[in-house]
Amino acid sequence: MTTPDQTTALTLLRAKQAQRKISWLTAYDAHSAAIAEAAGIDVLLVGDSLGMVALGYDSTLPVTLDQMIHHTAAVVRGRQRAWVVCDLPFGSYQVSPEQALTNSVRVLQESGCDAVKLEGGEAMAATIQFLAERGIAVVAHIGLTPQSIKQFGSYAKRGNNDAERAQLLRDAAAVEQAGAVAVVLENIPADLATAITEQCAIPTVGIGASVACDAQVLVWHDLLGLNAHNPPFAPAYVQLREQMIEGIRRWDHDVKAGDFPQS
Ligand code: KIV
Repeated sequence: MTTPDQTTALTLLRAKQAQRKISWLTAYDAHSAAIAEAAGIDVLLVGDSLGMVALGYDSTLPVTLDQMIHHTAAVVRGRQRAWVVCDLPFGSYQVSPEQALTNSVRVLQESGCDAVKLEGGEAMAATIQFLAERGIAVVAHIGLTPQSIKQFGSYAKRGNNDAERAQLLRDAAAVEQAGAVAVVLENIPADLATAITEQCAIPTVGIGASVACDAQVLVWHDLLGLNAHNPPFAPAYVQLREQMIEGIRRWDHDVKAGDFPQS
């Protein structure tokens, strides 16, 4: 049931129109969802970064639809008012618009989330339109698209030359025209992110794409300093990895010294 203070796709559009910034954060379980909401986060993205930050894969490619649904359902159980978006994993939507619809319906019905996200611009516009015309809220993702890592060979910045810039401008226009409710811009030059944000009526969500974007998204583990290394565009706001290691080390020491439990 939608409550009056529930974040919806319309909330995000109105925020763009009012030039009010929105915060997105990835989450992969119910506990994290509740913590993020308590901190004021508006949108919880169950990214397929799940594969790399939680499941131990070296890319997002092995992540399955079942894994995405499992984690998204947990995030939905932990949220009260945030909008929850689930990434469609690699291979679950590229075959045809019909495949994308079948899998989006599974995601929405089995997890209870609010929207799906898929990677791709102009090339995915027909699929986005097919989903949007059938009532599905779709977030597009352009720029650095991690599911294409095997094609590009690196997670480097996109949009560095005139041809790539022109393509990204076309991608943004195409996904908007197709009915996407928002578009993630990952790791592209600031002036290009500004141009896309000005060109688009739908909200842009930046990650490594400048302050000009209507919203910002970060990966949970990056923001909280849980990784040994962060991408250059994703600063840690707190170093929890060190604090966790220190807490566990002290307990490990006490156990081995016979000092735990104390009575
Ligand atoms: O998978 C993910 O977490 C994402 C964000 C980086 C935007 O797609």
